[in-house]
Amino acid sequence: MKTIIEPFKIKSVEPVYFTSREERKQILSAAHYNPFLIHARDVIIDLLTDSGTSAMSSEQWAGVMRGDESYAGSESFFRFENSVRNITGMPFIIPTHQGRAAEKILFSICGGKGKYFVSNTLFDTTRANIEFSGAEGIDLLCEEGKQPALVAPFKGNINIQALEQFIQEKGAENIPMVIITVTNNSGGGQPVSMENVRAARQVCDKYGVRLFIDACRFAENCYFIKKREKGYADKTVLAIAQELFSYADGCTMSAKKDAFANIGGFLALRNEQLAMECRNLLIITEGFPTYGGLAGRDLEAIAIGLEEVMQEDYLQYRIRSIEYIGEKLDAAGVPYIKPTGGHAVYLDAKAFLPHIPVHQYPGQALCAALYIEGGVRGVEIGSVMFGKYAADGSLIPAQMELVRLAIPRRVYTQSHIDYVAEVIVEVFRNRDQIKGYEITYETPLLRHFTAQFREV
Ligand code: F0G
Repeated sequence: MKTIIEPFKIKSVEPVYFTSREERKQILSAAHYNPFLIHARDVIIDLLTDSGTSAMSSEQWAGVMRGDESYAGSESFFRFENSVRNITGMPFIIPTHQGRAAEKILFSICGGKGKYFVSNTLFDTTRANIEFSGAEGIDLLCEEGKQPALVAPFKGNINIQALEQFIQEKGAENIPMVIITVTNNSGGGQPVSMENVRAARQVCDKYGVRLFIDACRFAENCYFIKKREKGYADKTVLAIAQELFSYADGCTMSAKKDAFANIGGFLALRNEQLAMECRNLLIITEGFPTYGGLAGRDLEAIAIGLEEVMQEDYLQYRIRSIEYIGEKLDAAGVPYIKPTGGHAVYLDAKAFLPHIPVHQYPGQALCAALYIEGGVRGVEIGSVMFGKYAADGSLIPAQMELVRLAIPRRVYTQSHIDYVAEVIVEVFRNRDQIKGYEITYETPLLRHFTAQFREV
């Protein structure tokens, strides 16, 4: 088999700015050891997120020029609506300026005190929007998903037994919906199987609970289904996606991921009454229902991106490029969540830095070390992001201490990725010298974005 190459050529480039190790030490200290506070220009390879960081295609840029900026009834909206309807099969399509805006609208209507939103794993902003409404977010990830070193095909699955038990315990009337995140971002970018979604649908039907999909990375998830699940090898990614969404009552989507757009999102719904309520809120917060906080050109870029993302030469390259980093890490014995997921590599900071206790945030320490070593920016997904405090002020740690290196779509080449692997391996060789961190400043909600740290 020959090398799987990038299925695109480069038409327009952006410079990478280089810094020395000494400069990076200064920069990181000035940013209080929080990668979110570093200027992007001071980053050599930016793996903070795959969100909004994609390179758009020449077709998408052409679409940007074609964008119809009419306030109402824009042609671009109808192209966008068609594209989303074709994939989701849902009649009511509501554009929003990004994923969390769709979440905010949905949970403002369906949430509230005493309610529970049950998921395989909720992403941080999704959880925050649920909690902001007064409701509680519950993660019921399958057991395989909790073991970083275990290789299993669908580690993003929801625990069906636990789901049914939870519904019986709390009462279906208190559970506005089950939300399945595909792929499971906070749990390693791991996919969810079609069988699992079908089983979740059956439980939801039995108790009369709605099923929603957080669809940010639906194409990557569907490609994993094609490759790993029996009966899907000969189906197109579009057909697999159509089946996936057929089990859902609605979905929220950030078009900043699997739609190759730099901004955008949507809510897709089957229920007309709920769609009406969502549109009312949309008009107050986002805009008229045919643009929802976006420019016509953005709707156009999303419509085209949604079609491009399902092309199999792209998905093969995409999944392979992540797997490739995993192989390099395996060769050096670096611990990470196995197998590699769809959009990122998740280093297992607890195993990487066993000498740093969880209350000294090994993930944060690893992020700092990667930046100093090679100007690589990743993000902690561990107790900084998801930790809570007990009544006595002690830390209730997250389930896992991870560092996510998310790969922007169609942005970096193989040599960039080789460089990243070299940086990780070098940090791993010198891991004994890495120290823990303590928090010197934090906010009550989503503290990871603005927290400040000091080396212990
Ligand atoms: N759901 C999931 C699974 C996500 O990964 C994100 C964003 C959102 C919802 C919210 O979408 O950013 O458009 O408002 N994840 C980004 C990330 C920020 O870095 O993983 P948004």
